[in-house]
Amino acid sequence: MWRICGRKKEVETNIMIRLYLAPMEEVTGYVFRNVINRHFGHIDRFYTPFISPDNRITKTRSAGELLNANNEGMDVVPQILTNDSEKFNEAAGLIADMGYKEININLGCPSNTVCSKFRGSGILRVPESLDRFLDGVFNGEDSIFRRYPDFRISAKMRVGYRDTDEFSDVASVMNRYPFSEMIVHPRLKSDMYSGKPRMDMFDRACKELTAPISYNGDITGPEGYEAIAGKYESRITGVMIGRGAVADPGIFRQIRTGERMTADELYDFLNDLYESYRQHLSAENAVSKLKEVWSYTVSLIEDEKERARVFKTIIKSRGEAEYKDAMLAAKRKIMQGIRFM
Ligand SMILES: Cc1cc2nc3c(=O)[nH]c(=O)nc-3n(C[C@H](O)[C@H](O)[C@H](O)COP(=O)(O)O)c2cc1C
Repeated sequence: MWRICGRKKEVETNIMIRLYLAPMEEVTGYVFRNVINRHFGHIDRFYTPFISPDNRITKTRSAGELLNANNEGMDVVPQILTNDSEKFNEAAGLIADMGYKEININLGCPSNTVCSKFRGSGILRVPESLDRFLDGVFNGEDSIFRRYPDFRISAKMRVGYRDTDEFSDVASVMNRYPFSEMIVHPRLKSDMYSGKPRMDMFDRACKELTAPISYNGDITGPEGYEAIAGKYESRITGVMIGRGAVADPGIFRQIRTGERMTADELYDFLNDLYESYRQHLSAENAVSKLKEVWSYTVSLIEDEKERARVFKTIIKSRGEAEYKDAMLAAKRKIMQGIRFM
């Protein structure tokens, strides 16, 4: 039994608050965003997983992310991960020439390899370096604003590195620059993805940052969205969802219209996702992409034992035929009465 079985209900959602699909490296790239957009829609903006401008961005695997042909009918914002303003400005020029209107700067990635080079959330621990980088981005000789005055630069940030006391210094640096938006994920780098989002820090971000703010973190259904939208209605411009949308790709439609995703829709979505990856990847690699997606999808199964059983069947499958059999078995289980959370 589904808790809500695909029935429409009238919902009043605040349509002034935009809905964003979060960047997730190796997960929410162009293949995923095309398929989720085609099946469920209701996503106002999509962010590419981070692109590192260390190599010429048009020559690396990022090229597929940026190609206009791979992003038709979607509002896509490329995300850049660097602390080098020269490399940023060079990449920004290429991206703007392709027709993009905004770039998002990654100030949130918590991975140790990224942070040890003072990138991602690693740069938050040295506000002076952050200031130098942003000065080069916004005011440097090769700043994108010299060629494209209306270009937008937004950021996606955590609220500090190790300590919440760091936040005021970071905020005062950020406030020196005309960011179009700051998407705040209220965790420290040291939190990684565990524990609850620090809502007291989100409150502080709302007060201390001057740019428009959007919220990101741990939204897994309409209730979570409504709690945020209700409380911060007058302050936020958007809500970004990552893992919750990979688990439940119908989440944006449900937020906007109340219509819950059905098991059939989930199955069709996952099949289409597989076939779409298959156009670019070997069967083995496409299966491994889908296994990653399933690691989120199984959270929809409420019963712990069933969840583990379904996941094991998917993970153990080898090759296309076995994977497809496992998918069918999973669907049957879901339809036989496993409740969605
Ligand atoms: C596997 C994975 C990959 C991620 N890749 C990126 C990335 O490329 N850029 C980024 O800004 N955040 C990245 N994130 C962070 C998410 O965008 C998001 O901030 C985080 O998952 C919290 O939001 P959620 O609870 O809605 O998922 C990633 C997270 C995960 C789990």
